Amino acid sequence: MNAAARDSAPRPRHLLTLAGIDRDYLAALLDRAAALRVRFATDPRPLDLLDGRTVVNLFFEPSTRTRTSFELATRRLGATAIHFDVANSSTRKGETLEDTLATIEAMGCDAFVVRHAENGTPERLAAHARHASVINAGDGNHAHPTQGLTDLLTLRDRKDRIDGLRVAICGDIRHSRVARSAIHGLQALGAAPVRLCGPATLLPDQAEVPGCELGTDFDAAIEGVDAIMMLRLQKERMTAAMPAGEGDYFKHYGLDAGRLARARRDAVVLHPGPINRGVEIATDVADGPQSAILDQVHNGVFVRMAVLASLLEPAQAA
Ligand code: NCD
Repeated sequence: MNAAARDSAPRPRHLLTLAGIDRDYLAALLDRAAALRVRFATDPRPLDLLDGRTVVNLFFEPSTRTRTSFELATRRLGATAIHFDVANSSTRKGETLEDTLATIEAMGCDAFVVRHAENGTPERLAAHARHASVINAGDGNHAHPTQGLTDLLTLRDRKDRIDGLRVAICGDIRHSRVARSAIHGLQALGAAPVRLCGPATLLPDQAEVPGCELGTDFDAAIEGVDAIMMLRLQKERMTAAMPAGEGDYFKHYGLDAGRLARARRDAVVLHPGPINRGVEIATDVADGPQSAILDQVHNGVFVRMAVLASLLEPAQAA
């Protein structure tokens, strides 16, 4: 699609998943995030792209990176950021999420950034919203599209491409919305079949991840790869106890310097955070030269700016 055709293509109202996302739209979001990063590298003053707009953070699960970066992204675009205090809200008095959304929407808010433990909550609220946009900031183990975009931008920076890249995602994939969005993004941009590795109980069913290669042997999975994405054990979503203790987990599935040497010499180490040092990743790897973990955090702000701008800015400014 050329630039003119891209500009005239209808823009989506919500961002709920990277599954089935238009490849050109995805690439345009990454390009825009990179351009915003250039602007803010030399000039920290906010833009006025979303002047007068209001973005509400609706987080029903803990968050450090995602919530803060959405708030920063909102302010840097000139919009007003509102943090909805779930713990002290009327959801505690029996109000449904739909009624909460309709109430805040009636005050004139333009977008909701939603994180919830239950798969599909952002979709449900998007279907209910009268005019506002809904952005999924992580639902259950389903999707975390802005994290997926962040991972793609970080990889593209370090490798100059996504096409043909060999990526291994390791750890608790069964409970990971980050892994699912990363897989969809990597597939959309033509990466090699993604290798998924972890203990059998923490792998998804193959039918859930078509086109991916599943395995339980960590050393084999990371052999010769261009990038390794490590994931935390998401105990809050586990229904059964961990099969073995955490010390044992590190022995089999922890990324240390010796293991990292199996990947390409220039392999990038990614982790969406929060990291658990000594559980899934050794400190020297997390803080080492191949680690892009803090680059991911840095890029997350610009990716969220690109997403908010693309969904909310007036059409003629696109
Ligand atoms: C993750 C999440 O909440 O899905 N963190 C993030 O948003 N960067 C991953 C996790 O909790 O392990």
